[in-house]
Amino acid sequence: MNIEKEQFGRTNLGQADIYTLTNAKGCQVKITNYGGIVVSVKVTDKSGQLGDVTLGYETLGEYVQNNPYFGALVGRYGNRIAKGKFMLNGKPYTLAVNNGQNHLHGGIVGFDKVVWDAKEIKQRDGVGLKLTYLSKDGEEGYPGNLSVTVRYLWTNDNELKIDYAATTDQPTVVNLTNHSYFNLAGKGDILGHELMISADRFTPVDEGLIPTGELRGVRGTPMDFRRPTAIGARIEQQDEQLKLGLGYDHNYVLNHYDGSLQMAARVYEPTTGRVLEVYTTQPGVQFYSGNFLDGTITGKYGRVYQKRNGFCLETQHFPDSPNKPGFPSTVLNPGEKYASTTIYKFTTR
Ligand code: GLA
Repeated sequence: MNIEKEQFGRTNLGQADIYTLTNAKGCQVKITNYGGIVVSVKVTDKSGQLGDVTLGYETLGEYVQNNPYFGALVGRYGNRIAKGKFMLNGKPYTLAVNNGQNHLHGGIVGFDKVVWDAKEIKQRDGVGLKLTYLSKDGEEGYPGNLSVTVRYLWTNDNELKIDYAATTDQPTVVNLTNHSYFNLAGKGDILGHELMISADRFTPVDEGLIPTGELRGVRGTPMDFRRPTAIGARIEQQDEQLKLGLGYDHNYVLNHYDGSLQMAARVYEPTTGRVLEVYTTQPGVQFYSGNFLDGTITGKYGRVYQKRNGFCLETQHFPDSPNKPGFPSTVLNPGEKYASTTIYKFTTR
């Protein structure tokens, strides 16, 4: 096991470093304290070949210039808040609007674009990074000073374990996630990846990708991933929700949510035998099939990212929860502690 720290570059918000975490298996994760971005995840395939299973860039400058949230830590509120407006304890709040009329992924300068303080973690079971950030009262329109800690641990079992914690000095809303894009083959599109999501229901959306408030059954629709199904098997079907999302870009309501760590999803890539399992304490997961990638970005290893060359499984509370009284609450009050855990586990079969 080993941690190596190198300079990644300068931003106008400060110096950023890149940390290479190598576990006892020799598998490797690179993370930068700029945006808490997971820059790469190198794991073996069924023949023992190491390969990078994430999308991203080689240089800090490219992340700063144009990052569609590759690998990023997302907050203060991951996903969308309709029109950037919500009421809390009878008071209206207006957030930065950065996605059509809506607020997305924390606003114009979200947690994915700030420099976090970093401390190395060395444990018997793995190596990691403890990131901290103070999001000031009023940042992007949010109330309250929010003190955030994110612990990344890369274990000897090839688990990328993410523990999120936060406290506030005024009532606010919080929804933290990681926006890594995966491609378990390390190339091409993700349409042949077989996906299972433990969800009987999802939250259908309107044209702005804002949930309507309904929890709709997946049975009999292309949204149904209760049994492992190739991502591409039904993605071009004539379906209202697939049309609105330009593919999959939907929040799934995880079965049996009770705040304990449970399996949310599993992805299998047949040519390499790589498997990704996602565990979370959160009630939802956004499955995004990389619909907005369009060949204009050239990433690591000179790869051009075409439509659906990567997928995301963003564990989260449901989008627009601050405006949806029927959804699990995302309110954090002074004296309370926000805590959640997500594990991305890599194996082969
Ligand atoms: C999330 C959203 C998508 C898109 C991506 C980033 O997954 O749900 O609509 O904004 O982030 O491009």
